[in-house]
Amino acid sequence: MNPKITDWQGLRVWLVGASSGIGAALAHELAGRGARLALSGRRLEKLEALGLPDALLLPLDCTRQDQLDAARDTLLARFGGLDLVIYLAGDYVPMTAATFDPVRSAALFEVNFLAATRLTASLLPTLRSSTTSPHGIAFVASVAGYRGLPKALAYGPGKAALIHFAECLHLELAPQGCGVWAINPGFVATRLTAVNDFEMPALITPEQAARLTVDGLAGGHFEIHYPKRFTRLMKLIALLPYRWSFPLIRRFTGA
Ligand SMILES: NC(=O)c1ccc[n+]([C@@H]2O[C@H](COP(=O)([O-])OP(=O)(O)OC[C@H]3O[C@@H](n4cnc5c(N)ncnc54)[C@H](OP(=O)(O)O)[C@@H]3O)[C@@H](O)[C@H]2O)c1
Repeated sequence: MNPKITDWQGLRVWLVGASSGIGAALAHELAGRGARLALSGRRLEKLEALGLPDALLLPLDCTRQDQLDAARDTLLARFGGLDLVIYLAGDYVPMTAATFDPVRSAALFEVNFLAATRLTASLLPTLRSSTTSPHGIAFVASVAGYRGLPKALAYGPGKAALIHFAECLHLELAPQGCGVWAINPGFVATRLTAVNDFEMPALITPEQAARLTVDGLAGGHFEIHYPKRFTRLMKLIALLPYRWSFPLIRRFTGA
């Protein structure tokens, strides 16, 4: 399966999408465990505001291949290599059939999926030739990628695609010693979910999400999902035939 990451001391980690929410909490968690961090988001001020003076700050728009490649070159020159990259960048706009906007939807797909594939392309030569252990790439997708959910008309497809992409990559790279993880959180209280107008079940804090991510990376499994009291239910629903899962989702969500 995947390598188990238990010792973070000196591990060279790039967090793409580190300026707020789960990424920011993970940056603090990993800094506390001694990782050598590179942090990306679009705005330098937000990365500086994290208050991690030892981290290498690489502001970029991850939908731009040229900016990703330039940041990778800076990182490799400074760190002399890379052990783990975690892709957290993402955006969420609730959309239904009544409010569907194809332009905004395409922008979400860009950051939630296509930019992750560009980052992967940019790093594959480095990851595939790495001889250090552990090393690999992790993608923060979502349980919204398991099955269609209400209001997820623009968000869900990008997350489903990201999980699928990670599965394909894992099949090929894990036997070669390069870890590939799919990280699927349930509800986490961040800027992204602040727009939700319903009570979010099993809502956790970004700090809890960061700790659960680190715990998951110690386990060696392909998928890391949390909180289990919510994600296990979502997994069960995703296993059911559609004729059962659609009514259940409608019942639970009131859709
Ligand atoms: N919150 C939840 O309940 C939840 C559940 C499941 C999955 N997730 C996923 O977890 C990840 C983190 O989300 P979050 O909840 O922590 O939300 P967040 O606080 O909004 O974090 C999103 C991060 O992505 C960065 N980002 C967005 N667009 C970017 C771009 N074009 N280029 C570079 N960076 C970009 C943001 O930085 P800047 O804005 O500074 O660029 C920010 O650091 C997302 O992929 C989200 O889909 C969240």
